[in-house]
Amino acid sequence: MVNNKSRSRIKSLRGTQNKENQSPKIIVAIDGPAGAGKSTVAKLVAKKLGFFYIDTGALYRALTLKAKRRKLNLNDEKLIIGLLKNTRIELAYKNNKLKVSLDKEDITQEIRKPYISYGVSDVAKIKGVRQIMTEIQRNLAQGNNCVLEGRDIGTIIFPNAKYKFYLDADFKERVLRRFKELKENNENIDLQAVEKDLATRDNIDSTRKIAPLKKAKDAIRVDTTNLSINEVVDKITSWIKP
Ligand code: CDP
Repeated sequence: MVNNKSRSRIKSLRGTQNKENQSPKIIVAIDGPAGAGKSTVAKLVAKKLGFFYIDTGALYRALTLKAKRRKLNLNDEKLIIGLLKNTRIELAYKNNKLKVSLDKEDITQEIRKPYISYGVSDVAKIKGVRQIMTEIQRNLAQGNNCVLEGRDIGTIIFPNAKYKFYLDADFKERVLRRFKELKENNENIDLQAVEKDLATRDNIDSTRKIAPLKKAKDAIRVDTTNLSINEVVDKITSWIKP
């Protein structure tokens, strides 16, 4: 699971899935912009199917947190890549809850904070970072049926995934959803700041040179603007025949 070339580590992805008798493994790729409902939907789809859930954004957020704590310039590619090579990020999924650890510290809540969102797209556009993250994500999924959510799962990480979905929603709706989510987490943030964050990240993520956010040609587009979470989950699972 751990790659020897880079020293970045994802040591474990714990869960309850029975690993036997499951060949070939099924990959469900869910991509899309922030606020389209990916995380909530991906978790529920994974639960319904008994698959592992992998939140790939958490990897980029964890690295961003470490870089910010060290007050590194997020655009200094060499420094950020060097940092990742000496970082251990763990994803554990238990009782329908994701736990993200950075060098053994539980950072699950911290990485959802707005100050991480504001820098994460800069870190995520670095070629060397994405190269290492690609390897990490493929290693994490190895041997397991998985639902992965992110920006480039269907295009770059698993271009041969059996099932690919691209979730989207109107910009205004995405902003509102993220605003509500942050308020529920007691974040002191206004709607304009959320709007600015999403617009900035949409722009950086979809225009970057490496693995830009886009719908894979063979992905099914789901517009979630007027759909409930359960409707989206049902729509997606209705396509999947494990
Ligand atoms: O939850 P939200 O959609 O706001 O973001 P996320 O999925 O946690 O991803 C945070 C950021 O990480 C994105 O804005 C991208 O810059 C980056 N990311 C990426 O480049 N590739 C991925 N597969 C996942 C996330």
